[in-house]
Amino acid sequence: MTQEPSREALAKLAPVLTKRWLSPDAWKLDTYERLDGYSALRKAFKAHPDDLIQLIKDSGLRGRGGAGFPTGMKWGFIPQNDGKPHYLVVNADEGEPGTCQDLPLMMYDPHSLVEGVIIASYAIRANFAVIYIRGEAIHAARRLKQAVASAYEKGYLGQNILKSGYDLDLVVHSGAGAYICGEETALLDSLEGYRGQPRLRPPFPATHGLYASPTVVNNVETIATVPYIVLGGASWFRTMGTEKSPGPKIFSVSGRVKQPGQYECALGITLRQLIELCGGMLDGHNLRFWTPGGSSTPLLTDEHLDAPLDFEGMMGVGTMLGTAAVQIFSDQDCPVYATYRWIEFYHHESCGKCTPCREGNYWMKGILARILSGEGKKEDLETLLDACDNLLGRSFCALGDGATSPVTSSIKFFEQDYLDYIEGRKEPMFAKGELAGA
Ligand code: NAI
Ligand code: SF4
Repeated sequence: MTQEPSREALAKLAPVLTKRWLSPDAWKLDTYERLDGYSALRKAFKAHPDDLIQLIKDSGLRGRGGAGFPTGMKWGFIPQNDGKPHYLVVNADEGEPGTCQDLPLMMYDPHSLVEGVIIASYAIRANFAVIYIRGEAIHAARRLKQAVASAYEKGYLGQNILKSGYDLDLVVHSGAGAYICGEETALLDSLEGYRGQPRLRPPFPATHGLYASPTVVNNVETIATVPYIVLGGASWFRTMGTEKSPGPKIFSVSGRVKQPGQYECALGITLRQLIELCGGMLDGHNLRFWTPGGSSTPLLTDEHLDAPLDFEGMMGVGTMLGTAAVQIFSDQDCPVYATYRWIEFYHHESCGKCTPCREGNYWMKGILARILSGEGKKEDLETLLDACDNLLGRSFCALGDGATSPVTSSIKFFEQDYLDYIEGRKEPMFAKGELAGA
C-alpha cells in the first residue's frame, strides 16, 4: 500500500519549475504564453542588465548542475566593455547516473528554458547562445528546436527582440553522447569542433570560454529558474530552501520506492520526507544505501535519513548534494555490485587524457570484478583505496575525482559485504573468469 505523505513532507513540495508540467500541451508557445510565459522577459527588458545580475546575486540561486556555484557571481565575472563577444552556453548534457530532471523539463516546458536563456544572455550582454544537449536525447532536442523556431517566429529571438533593441540568436546543438562533454570545458571543445576533452582551469570559461571569449556555462534547471526569480523577486525565492541554499530544486528519485520520479521540493528536505512523498519504500524492501546526487557523490546509509538535502547539509555528512539524483537501494541490493557497475561506467566514460583516471578506473574495475567472482584477496581493499588516493585530487577533471566516491564510501560503510565475497560467505555474482580482462 502506498503511504500518505505527512503534512511536514507535503509542506516541502514547491512546484515552481514543474508547475506547468501537467498542463496539456505546456510545451507549445501559446499555452506557455497563456500561463504567464514570456512576461518575465518583458519585465527584464525594463531593467538594466547589471540590475538583473544583482537580482540573481540577491536571490542566492546556486548552480543546479551539481557544483552549486553562485549563479549571480558567475554572471558577474563576465568582463564588461572588453570589446569581445560574450556567450551563454546551456549545459544540457545531463549524464550523471540517476539524474533525470533536465530532460523532462525540456520536454514539458521548453519555453521556460528559452525565456531564461534570453534573460540571462541580456544580463551578461551576449548576442549568441547555445543549448548543448546530450546526443542520445533526440526527442528533447527535437522539442527544443521546435520551441526555438516558434520563439523566433513570435519575435522573442532574433533582431530587436520585443522592440527592445536587443538581438539574440539561439542554437540547439546535439553532442555525440559522451559523459565527459558535460564537463564545461570539454563541452566547449566539443562545440568548437574538437574532441571533447577537459581544458586546464583556470582560466575559467567566464573569461576564456567559447572561442576564448567570456562565456557563462549554466545548467538547464539553473537557467529555467531565472524567469521565476525575475517575476517573483529575490525575497520570494528565499522563502523556499535554506539561507545558504535557497529556492526549489527538482530531485530525481529512482530505485526501490513506490513512486519514483521528479519531485520539486524546497532545498533542505530530508530523505525521510522525500521517501514519504514517493509513497514509501517498495513492499518488502528496507533502505540500505542511497546516493544524494548520482554516483559522483559518496553513498549514504539509513543513518542519514534526516540529513538536509541541500549544499551545506550534505557536506555536513561527508558527501555532496551534486545533481540531486537520489538513487535508493534496499537490503535486496548489493553495494559491491552497485559500485562495480558505477566504476564500469567511469571506466567506459573516462576520456583518457590523464593517467590516474584512465588507468585507475581500469584497474578498479578489474579488482571489483575479481572480488565479485569470489577470487578477491583481502589486500584488494587496500589496493582499491590506494587507487582512490591516486585519483582524488590528481585527476585532471571532476570525472576522476567522482569515480572514487562510490568506492571509498562503499568500503567505509559496507566492508563486510566485500569480505563476504572474499572469504566465501557470499555466492559470487559472476562465474570465475567470466569477467577476465573485462
Ligand atoms: P566547479 O566547482 O569546479 O565549478 C563550478 C562552476 O563554477 C563552473 O562553471 C566554473 O567555471 C565556475 N567557477 C568555479 N570557480 C571559479 C572561479 N574562480 N572563477 C570563475 N568561475 C569559477 O565544478 P565542475 O567541475 O564544473 O562541476 C562538477 C560537478 O558537476 C560535480 O559536483 C557533479 O555533481 C556535477 N556533474 C553533473 C552532471 C550532470 O549530469 N548534471 C554530470 C557530471 C557531474
Ligand atoms: Fe579525462 Fe578522466 Fe582525466 Fe577527466 S579525469 S581528463 S575524464 S581521463
